[in-house]
Amino acid sequence: MAKFVAGLEDVIALESSICLVDGTHGKLYYRGYSIEELAAHSTFEETAYLLWFGELPTSFQLKDVEDSLLDNREFPGEVLDIIRDFPPTATPMEVLRTVVSALSSFDRNACYFSREADLCKTMRLTAQIPVAVAAHHRIRSGLPVMTPRAELGHAANFLYMLQGIEPDAVSARAFDVALVLHADHELNASTFAARVSAGTLADMYSSITSAIGTLAGPLHGGANQQVMQMLEEIGDMARVEEYVDRTLKEKKRVMGFGHRVYDTTDPRAEVLRQLSQEVGASKGDLRWFEISEKIRETVWRKKQLYPNVDFYSASLYHVLGIPHDLFTPVFAISRIAGWTAHVLEQYANNRLIRPRAEYVGPRNRQYVPIDDRGEYPVLPELRDQESPQEGTQTQ
Ligand code: CMC
Repeated sequence: MAKFVAGLEDVIALESSICLVDGTHGKLYYRGYSIEELAAHSTFEETAYLLWFGELPTSFQLKDVEDSLLDNREFPGEVLDIIRDFPPTATPMEVLRTVVSALSSFDRNACYFSREADLCKTMRLTAQIPVAVAAHHRIRSGLPVMTPRAELGHAANFLYMLQGIEPDAVSARAFDVALVLHADHELNASTFAARVSAGTLADMYSSITSAIGTLAGPLHGGANQQVMQMLEEIGDMARVEEYVDRTLKEKKRVMGFGHRVYDTTDPRAEVLRQLSQEVGASKGDLRWFEISEKIRETVWRKKQLYPNVDFYSASLYHVLGIPHDLFTPVFAISRIAGWTAHVLEQYANNRLIRPRAEYVGPRNRQYVPIDDRGEYPVLPELRDQESPQEGTQTQ
């Protein structure tokens, strides 16, 4: 049997032609195009097309996909009612996970399994996830749900539906680029989860629900929200040194730093850094960018860790006016393009994903009747916890 590798680090689990992460040189390519080039020239819609179909679209093909995404913004009223029924304490990621699962019951393609039907589900999920995130936020804030605007692209329409006003050109473009940057990243944990589900021939909605549940963790997509919490906790450049010292001394993670694959700079962090500065300057609020810069310098000096994609996206999303608990759902708004591309690729050449575990438990034990088992320590009291999130940073 193959050797055990903790966390499957560097294990090649499958072949894919979607995304290349060159962790040694800090490079990232979608279908052979560098992320820097796509960030400079592409849009989310065009990048999604590239991920799904393997080629950059002609203007006719791009229009086709843009039209399909527009048509699919129409959201089932029944699912809107489900969103209204959530308690105010529901987190946006809980709501999104449930909504994506529910959407399958209102998709007439859901029961068909063909590439055509799966492409329809792909368009529908990509178009409806941002609508769901914006609608939930408006409902929980006691605000009317906005009707999508056909003349706005994917990125600008989300900001419009969230905030009720059309974003300025700098903000709309910055957010569009952020969506391009987050759209795929090879076999990251949530994409792997989607492919494991798809590998059982579970449907697209089940696979994406698995991915969303996996994205929520603070070591994956949940990191960007925790970066913002850190920035707020620090609050002032003068406190950065002490915060980083304390965090490292307590053997905790500085959120937004380190990466399983990159030994050097995460190229997405470099582009996001520029966007954070640009949008911060245009809004007259460079405070969060400047604190981020000081953290970057301090973490490098003390631990030689590079920032990852979640680090500068936090200060960028904050100055774009996106509520902090929506940062991870915003990751999903973009990553849906990659998840669906991977599910399509998995279906096209499927093999069940079923690794092995190395058994390290006791062997050959004799069953002991219950009355002969002696006095075992009692279980700790089973009761509701006050704060289930407590301590996640120390994982
Ligand atoms: N802060 C402090 N120390 C760290 C950090 C960090 N953020 N990341 C790694 N290290 C240290 C770790 O303590 C260990 O040090 P030592 O060898 O002295 O014990 C060393 O670096 C190697 O760490 P590891 O845990 O073996 O690395 P990993 O590949 O398992 O972890 C990671 C990768 C992303 C989970 C980790 O870097 C981390 O927890 N970062 C903070 C959370 C975060 O920003 N997550 C977003 C990841 S990028 C976007 C995404 O994929 O969603």
